[in-house]
Amino acid sequence: VQPASDGLEDVVVAETELSLVDGEAGRLVVRGHDVEALAGAVPFEAMCSLLWDGALPDVPRLERTRRALGRARVEAHEELWRLGSALDAAETMDALRAALSHLSVDGLAPDAARWRITGATAVFAAAGSRARRGERPVPPDPERGHADDLLRLLEGAAPHPARARALDAYLVTVAEHGMNASTFTARVVASTRSDAVSAVVAALGALKGPLHGGAPGPVLDMLDAIGAPEAAEGWLARELAEGRRIMGLGHRVYRVRDPRAAVLERALERLAQEGIGSRVVALARAVEQAAVRALAERHPRRRLAANVEFATAVLLDALGLPRAFFTPTFAVGRVAGWLAHVEEQRARGRLIRPSQRYRGPLPPVAASA
Ligand code: COA
Repeated sequence: VQPASDGLEDVVVAETELSLVDGEAGRLVVRGHDVEALAGAVPFEAMCSLLWDGALPDVPRLERTRRALGRARVEAHEELWRLGSALDAAETMDALRAALSHLSVDGLAPDAARWRITGATAVFAAAGSRARRGERPVPPDPERGHADDLLRLLEGAAPHPARARALDAYLVTVAEHGMNASTFTARVVASTRSDAVSAVVAALGALKGPLHGGAPGPVLDMLDAIGAPEAAEGWLARELAEGRRIMGLGHRVYRVRDPRAAVLERALERLAQEGIGSRVVALARAVEQAAVRALAERHPRRRLAANVEFATAVLLDALGLPRAFFTPTFAVGRVAGWLAHVEEQRARGRLIRPSQRYRGPLPPVAASA
């Protein structure tokens, strides 16, 4: 009898043209482009085009995508009044999930539905974060890029262009990443021929967990708790002795450092050149090195290195985002990948329905009369 495939590790569930995650080489390729060549070089709108249409847009097409996404943000803002108390949830991710489930894309062509959902994710996330602080939502500016406007929607004022550029690089970096838990969730929902909003709402639920997209807030909590580089070793040893996981370290696929971490560090460096520095960058470096050493001692056969969430925490903190907004920001980028997978699953996938092995008792065999 074959053992159950715990965590579906190494199980191939789809043929895809969207991305390659090479865990041994530490490489992420999205539709033929290395992530290093995309982040910082193309805006998020171009990444959407790449994922959904198969190629990076030329200049006129990029302009159309910017307008489509700008319009989608304005329409989402006009929907806010319909949401009732959905945005009042204590956590921004819960507010975003509740708000998105009110969205309807009935009657829209798939392309229009994708822009709609992507625009609404940014607008609802920002409005949810503001609601937590007792602030009213800010109307979107359709002329701005998506990253630039996201900061405006969150903060109520036009951001420094260097901050918008860094956030844009972040959104591009996290837009697509293979068959991760939330993307798989989206594909499972799409495989039943359910609608794209349902797939995205389900994916949000998967993203929120601390083993997936919920990690960067706790990474920053950890850096705060450690406080100084010399305290890292002792703090980490105590956590591991208690059986707790170190957030931002380890990955299901990568056996080397997550390539996205280096991409985000470059964005952080560019931000520093503009005079926007991080208060935790030196501490983060020391903690990462100490954590890699401590985990190597405990798991000599499994190489555990920093993942994207470690670098995310440092970058988004340098950008001045509240830590409760880290995972919603991840969702604003990743929704582009989810929607590409939903389309791919619809176009050529079958109903996803794996098996299980029953280990419980059977009813007693009825005594024959
Ligand atoms: N801290 C402590 N121990 C860890 C660890 C971490 N960050 N990551 C993995 N391990 C341990 C596991 O508990 C396991 O130990 P065991 O064999 O004694 O049970 C061993 O290392 C091997 O784990 P692995 O098979 O590589 O983990 P996984 O593929 O099931 O899980 C993650 C991958 C990402 C969920 C896991 O590394 C983790 O929990 N990381 C922290 C959360 C995080 O940063 N998530 C964001 C991911 S992008």
